[in-house]
Amino acid sequence: MSELFFHFGLLLLILLVFGTMALASYRAAPWVPARKKDLLRITELAGIKKDEVVYELGSGDGRVTLELAKRYDAQFIGYEISFIPYLVSRIRLFFLNNFFVHRLKGRVKILYKDFFRADFSQANVIVFFLTPYGLKKLESKFKKEMKKDSRIVSYVFPIKAFTPAVVSKPTETSNSIYCYRF
Ligand SMILES: C[S@@+](CC[C@H](N)C(=O)[O-])C[C@H]1O[C@@H](n2cnc3c(N)ncnc32)[C@H](O)[C@@H]1O
Repeated sequence: MSELFFHFGLLLLILLVFGTMALASYRAAPWVPARKKDLLRITELAGIKKDEVVYELGSGDGRVTLELAKRYDAQFIGYEISFIPYLVSRIRLFFLNNFFVHRLKGRVKILYKDFFRADFSQANVIVFFLTPYGLKKLESKFKKEMKKDSRIVSYVFPIKAFTPAVVSKPTETSNSIYCYRF
C-alpha cells in the first residue's frame, strides 16, 4: 500500500514539475533566465519611481524582480506558473526578507498565477522576457489596459505592434532591451 502511495506521489511531483513547465511554454515562454550581466541595464531602463507598481510577467527564479526591488522603493508583483522557478523565487524572497534586505518586506509579492489573468491597469511599469509568440498574444491586452504614462520593458524580443521609445543594445553581441511608453 505504501509503495502505491509513493508511486502516486512521485507521479504527481513529476506532473507538477514538467506539466507546469510545458504549460508555461505553451502559454507564453519556457523558463530561460535573463543574463545576470543584463540585470543592471533592465533596471536602469525601467526608470521606476518611488511607490510605483511594477509587474514582472513570468518572474522565473525572481532574479529580475528582486534586483529591481533592491534598487527601487516601489511595489513589485511577479507572476509565475512554472513550479520549480516559482519555488526558487519564493525561497529567495524569504531569505532576502528575513535575513538580508529587510527593507524589501511587504513590497514584493510573487504569485503563482497566470499573468493573462492579471489586471495591467494597476501597473505603472511591466517588465518581461517572453517569446515573440507570447508577446503577440499580449498585444491587445496592453492596448486595452495600460494606463497613461505607464511603461513596458521587453528583454530580447520587440513587440511588433508598438514603436519603442528606447532600445538598449550597447554592443553588437548584447541582448536588446526595448522600452515602450503609453
Ligand atoms: C524566458 S523566462 C524569463 C524568466 C525571468 N523573467 C527572467 O528574466 O529571468 C519566461 C517565464 O515566464 C513564465 N511564464 C510563461 N507563461 C506564463 C504565464 N501565462 N503566467 C505566468 N508565468 C508564465 C515561464 O514559466 C518562465 O519562467
